[in-house]
Amino acid sequence: MYTEIVMDHFMNPRNVGEIENADGIGEVGNVKCGDIMRIYIKVEDEKIIDIKFKTFGCGSAIAASSVATEIIMGLSIEEALKVTNKQVVDALGGLPPVKIHCSVLAEQALKAAIYDYATKNGKTYAGLEGFDPHDDHDHHDVVEIEF
Ligand code: FES
Repeated sequence: MYTEIVMDHFMNPRNVGEIENADGIGEVGNVKCGDIMRIYIKVEDEKIIDIKFKTFGCGSAIAASSVATEIIMGLSIEEALKVTNKQVVDALGGLPPVKIHCSVLAEQALKAAIYDYATKNGKTYAGLEGFDPHDDHDHHDVVEIEF
């Protein structure tokens, strides 16, 4: 039911941990399953030069966070804001339908981290309009949760 790529990222997740003095931190949680994801980014010259994650959640959420960090590492902020949960799912070789929301969590955690960076630095980016980390992100079951 899970692809080998999912299992690999679950068993050997990439870029796990925290970034000290991160430029942006995003935290989102899913109230239905109770899973929580936190993404840290380091930004230099509008590029994401480092990204790490901590996910308290299911295997798919861990795999989705891990592969998302690989996709995002080195991208410009504007490019990163175009990364969708579908890209995350594709990079994992697919996820079972009931696990798609786990990939949405990765997309939203990244957006929340960029939102945090933008807010701290007085910046605005296309793709962040209307984004509110305290909102339900249009998914009705995703909210920001403090660890
Ligand atoms: Fe909720 Fe995976 S079951 S994030």
